[in-house]
Amino acid sequence: MASIPDEVTISPGQIRRMFDDIAGRYDLLNTLISLGLHKRWKRAAAQRAAVPPGGLALDVCAGTGDVAAALLERGARVVCVDFSREMIARGRRRVRAPYVLGDALLLPFPDAAFDAAVIAFSLRNVSSRAKLFSEMARVVRPGGVVVALEASRPRNPVLRIAHRFYLGLATAAAGLFSQRDAYRYLAGSILSFPPPEEVAREMREAGLTEVGVRSFALGAAVLYSGVKPPAADG
Ligand SMILES: C[S@@+](CC[C@H](N)C(=O)[O-])C[C@H]1O[C@@H](n2cnc3c(N)ncnc32)[C@H](O)[C@@H]1O
Repeated sequence: MASIPDEVTISPGQIRRMFDDIAGRYDLLNTLISLGLHKRWKRAAAQRAAVPPGGLALDVCAGTGDVAAALLERGARVVCVDFSREMIARGRRRVRAPYVLGDALLLPFPDAAFDAAVIAFSLRNVSSRAKLFSEMARVVRPGGVVVALEASRPRNPVLRIAHRFYLGLATAAAGLFSQRDAYRYLAGSILSFPPPEEVAREMREAGLTEVGVRSFALGAAVLYSGVKPPAADG
């Protein structure tokens, strides 16, 4: 079984190169590691975005485009943004949505351009969630929704041990098909990720209201959402 580091910090450049390297196997391994559940969670994220028919949604850190696909299925128009050229190349082949090469922490879009902004499985990869949430809130119109789906850890101590064991097994299996160190990092970033209430607090600090938290698979994944408050008059 692969050992998983408890604490991991790597630079944005290393993250980008890592995703360039694993892009070819990313979808297969996502399905393997989540036991096929990640698509269902992404559909729930797209539903929570509550984009009106024909409305415009942003898939932040879109990768190969699963969230964009789920948003398109719901009748939204979608723009994808990511900083890995290889992930974008894969995504462009899979989803009929424009991709923009850009940084999630400095989104290349004007204020209030989107009805909703969604990010999946990338909160762990950005160097500042505060900056990310404030950028997502900035590009969403007042009344629009910011949604974040992320891996997490069960609260129950027994389940936590089982979850850690499972991550070790999944990381070892992933290492057989792809870059072993990348998957050790990804598993480690789940173990060191803050609990849901802290992420919810960060969303509120970014100015979002009605912040909600919903757990999947006994806490192995969490869906966060918040609403950008209507603009104050005058
Ligand atoms: C784990 S993948 C998630 C992809 C997709 N959202 C999904 O759920 O399948 C993380 C993605 O975030 C991208 N990414 C990480 N940090 C980023 C940043 N600061 N700006 C833009 N993209 C970033 C990576 O290139 C990668 O495609």
